[in-house]
Amino acid sequence: MGNRIPDEIVDQVQKSADIVEVIGDYVQLKKQGRNYFGLCPFHGENTPSFSVSPDKQIFHCFGCGAGGNVFSFLRQMEGYSFTESVSHLADKYQIDFPDDITINTASRPDSSGEQKMAEAHELLKKFYHHLLMNTKEGQDALDYLLSRGFTKELIDEFEIGYALDSWDFMTKFLAKRGFKEELMEKAGLLIRREDGSGYFDRFRNRIIFPIHDHHGAVAAFSGRALGDQQPKYMNSPETPLFHKSKLLYNFHKARLQIRKQERAVLFEGFADVISAVSSGVKESIATMGTSLTEEHAKILRRNVEEIILCYDSDSAGYEATLKAVDLLMKKDCKVRVAIIPDGLDPDDYVKRYGGEKFKNDIINASVTVMAFKMQFFRKGKNLSDEGDRLAYIKSVLKEISALSGSLEQEVYLKQLAAEFSLSQESLAEQLAVFSKQNGPGQNNRETQTRRAHITTKARQKRLRPAHENAERLLLAHMLRDRGVIKKVLDRIGFEFNLDEHRALAAYLYALYEEGAELTPQNAMSKLQDDTISQLLSDILMLQINQELSEAELSDYVKKVLNHRKWSMIKEKEQERAEAERQKDFLTAASLAQEIITLNRSLK
Ligand code: GTP
Ligand code: MN
Repeated sequence: MGNRIPDEIVDQVQKSADIVEVIGDYVQLKKQGRNYFGLCPFHGENTPSFSVSPDKQIFHCFGCGAGGNVFSFLRQMEGYSFTESVSHLADKYQIDFPDDITINTASRPDSSGEQKMAEAHELLKKFYHHLLMNTKEGQDALDYLLSRGFTKELIDEFEIGYALDSWDFMTKFLAKRGFKEELMEKAGLLIRREDGSGYFDRFRNRIIFPIHDHHGAVAAFSGRALGDQQPKYMNSPETPLFHKSKLLYNFHKARLQIRKQERAVLFEGFADVISAVSSGVKESIATMGTSLTEEHAKILRRNVEEIILCYDSDSAGYEATLKAVDLLMKKDCKVRVAIIPDGLDPDDYVKRYGGEKFKNDIINASVTVMAFKMQFFRKGKNLSDEGDRLAYIKSVLKEISALSGSLEQEVYLKQLAAEFSLSQESLAEQLAVFSKQNGPGQNNRETQTRRAHITTKARQKRLRPAHENAERLLLAHMLRDRGVIKKVLDRIGFEFNLDEHRALAAYLYALYEEGAELTPQNAMSKLQDDTISQLLSDILMLQINQELSEAELSDYVKKVLNHRKWSMIKEKEQERAEAERQKDFLTAASLAQEIITLNRSLK
């Protein structure tokens, strides 16, 4: 067993993997000129400062400085080790990967335990499914599902299963296969008896829905009661595999569809997702019995801009919709709402009216958030009654006053005016009153976004001292032309002022000595230090001329070397002053001489 992947394999994987495709699995990228841009997955942001260069096969974020190649991307995104990221990509691009390489997963401490937990979930998923489909014990559960309108194909597709009405069937099953009870308790599959005398099955006599993580591995289960037992749904607890605040049901399957359709449809319950998918709305996902979190919103926004919310049509569903709207808008999503009539939930609607009608009349007929609110305010009101009408107009005006765009405000004012044959002027006057009440702090989402944008830009354009810029430009030219490496080695050597620059230069010298071909990919592929690969990606993104004239080169060299000397002169002047204070005139004189020599050597 070895630990080093042969260079040829690393090279082959690097050449076959397309960085735009790999990163595209995590971040929605838009082409702009030669590069692709998106929202950086490594820091929260609303403006796309994350760029991917297909020519150079690198990524770089101008906001937070993250950068590197495909391997470093997976290292930073997934916490993979170098060997893991190479083997993962080899797998994806069907490149033979030697069996005898030990995949180093040391970067994730508990990974062996997690591996076992994942295996147990995979095993149980298959077994539960078998119990549902092929056994006498599973017949009632199967009948229930069929009576609810689930077809056998759908049950297969979502790998639904059944947990036997037994306290220890799975406990024994897992023990027989060598899974440690303690670990299985940590995985949420078993529960420890209060008297400490052992463990029992968490899921008993329930229909089992496997919950997959975003890579498609089973991370948890949700068990639905067959009758009226409580709780109706029992979910796995939080475990190292299952984080409710981050996981979206069906995301692993929906991701591609979300990209293709350029929208995601978000539900409250996973039964709704299954119905929606069976109706042809394959870009459907749901939270797992929790309300939408900021983490969820971030993951969604990285993949898509438009989100359609399709929650239950009761007042809890209404409140939840408003909360989700706020959260998603803060992350700069475009939100629409699909409204289910008659107090139904999406799943009921599909069962009652059919998938075709659900897709066309509900999902594809989604409305703006404002229209959704207007419809809600109208509920239970008799608009030909003057009091009701006024109350309605007031609530709508309040909402309009909270809108950020004046154009948007005008559209809804017009609509409201037309609806009730009112003058737009009088509505606008009333609106002004509400706007004042809302105060200046309410409307400033736009300014906030703009401000965030400006700070990113400012950081990007941070004024660097001349010597630092000279070093960066020299490094950029070294990467473009190996001839420059030799010249810089001769004239500057290791005298770069910044430690990082010195390290990158040393690395390039080594590549030069090896005679390695110096493409950006090559330069990047052997780097395993994140700081240096970030610097490298930053430098590779610099816009430079295709030529480096002798005049330009010596100007940069001078700036680099002079800065070093200036710093030394300053140091020595301080030492000299100190020596004089100590009345050590001999040392002071010798320091003065050194300073003169240094000053003379300045070009
Ligand atoms: P059905 O009654 O089977 O149609 O389910 P539903 O999809 O209509 O579920 P409901 O709207 O009641 O709940 C939505 C989501 O909340 C479910 O998908 C579960 O994730 C979660 N949930 C519902 N009931 C419970 C419960 O009793 N306990 C827990 N932990 N979660 C629940
Ligand atoms: Mn339901």
